Amino acid sequence: MPQKGSVRFHTQVIHAAQRPQDWQGSTLPPIFQTASHVHQTAEGLSQTFAGQTTDHIYMRLTNPTNRILEEKLSILEGGQATVIMSSGMAAVSNACMALLRAGDEFVAGNSLFMSTYLLFTGVFQRYGLTARLVEPTDEEAIEKAINDKTRFIYMETIGNPKMDVPDLARTSEIAHRYGLPLVVDNTLATPYLCRPLDLGADIVLHSTTKYLSGHGAAMGGAVIDGGNFSWPEERFPDFKPFLDRKGPLAFADKVWREHHINFGTTQAPLHSYLTMIGLDTLAVRMERHIENALEVARYLMERPEVAWVNYPGLEGHSSRPTAERQFGGKGFGGILTFGLENQKTCHRFIDSLKLIYHLANLGDCKTLIIHPYSTQYVSFDETKKESLSVTPDMLRLSVGIEAKEDIMEDLGQALDGLSK
Ligand SMILES: Cc1ncc(COP(=O)(O)O)c(C=O)c1O
Repeated sequence: MPQKGSVRFHTQVIHAAQRPQDWQGSTLPPIFQTASHVHQTAEGLSQTFAGQTTDHIYMRLTNPTNRILEEKLSILEGGQATVIMSSGMAAVSNACMALLRAGDEFVAGNSLFMSTYLLFTGVFQRYGLTARLVEPTDEEAIEKAINDKTRFIYMETIGNPKMDVPDLARTSEIAHRYGLPLVVDNTLATPYLCRPLDLGADIVLHSTTKYLSGHGAAMGGAVIDGGNFSWPEERFPDFKPFLDRKGPLAFADKVWREHHINFGTTQAPLHSYLTMIGLDTLAVRMERHIENALEVARYLMERPEVAWVNYPGLEGHSSRPTAERQFGGKGFGGILTFGLENQKTCHRFIDSLKLIYHLANLGDCKTLIIHPYSTQYVSFDETKKESLSVTPDMLRLSVGIEAKEDIMEDLGQALDGLSK
């Protein structure tokens, strides 16, 4: 592999952290399916427990297959250290918990993935942790919500399902002005479209279950530490032992040592392996997702049965200028929402699709659809659904990489059927 960073993203995503010379020539990483590892000497294991070596001890702590994926993701996101976990929600909850103490607050964009929203507004509240939710694109509101108890700012690169795109560079400037780190869930954009650390963010999170894998065969999450935040003692006194031990990697050490290990959010090495198989094709898949999504969005706009389409790539979309700049002209992602007449029409429409899968996931190479109002958000009260822009007439489409004509033909025949 040429020097890290010296090759283009399409090459890097395939070759980063590849070491066939250490894998008996295998072009794919080995799966180390073992709960624990043998150590040759008592002194050696004692040193490893003391953190003086990076040898593996026990799968809940580290695993050689997981470590390869950690290295890959650090390279792809431009981070200094990554901790792989069992799911995207493990990454979200562990990262936030590592940043918070009882009574602390944080500011988050209100355009949040459903479980993240429930964690922030339900579970965290019971533990005395307050999420101040603001419009992610309203920089004045973000600044106003910061106070002495704030510990970080949290954003999603592309809000799900609101499809809004916050300006990460400007948000990180606000965060840093107040001595706070910016945490970004980059699941929907992936490092193909956006590298939040390059824009000033400090921590990046992923559900690797989605685009990074792309095949829907594996679950996983990742916490990536940019290694540039200084964790000033006045606001982060609890970081002192981690700074003493790991310097710039204090956060990665804290999230791993305090939370990942003790909450037991272990990633099964098979899932890391499957994720890496998918990762090889991320760049070409994203190109195709993006191209197909724009075409499908434009097609839906032309259909009289469709009341509205929400996709940041459409002319006139409020997030289009930010997305265009932030994503370097590479496009606007693979997810869109659109409206039909009402919930009944949405259900009829889903039931008549022939190619598109009806299921709760996104970022798969197959095109997926869901009616969020009556599924993921069914237990939310009306006010909450409204604040999250989850309306009865809304469908969410995760546009896959099939031939776009086939996706549009399937949508078209289901739309035709509505008037029968
Ligand atoms: C933006 C975002 N973050 C986090 C998650 C949670 O990921 P997982 O399902 O892997 O726990 C999801 C899942 O859909 C998501 O869309």
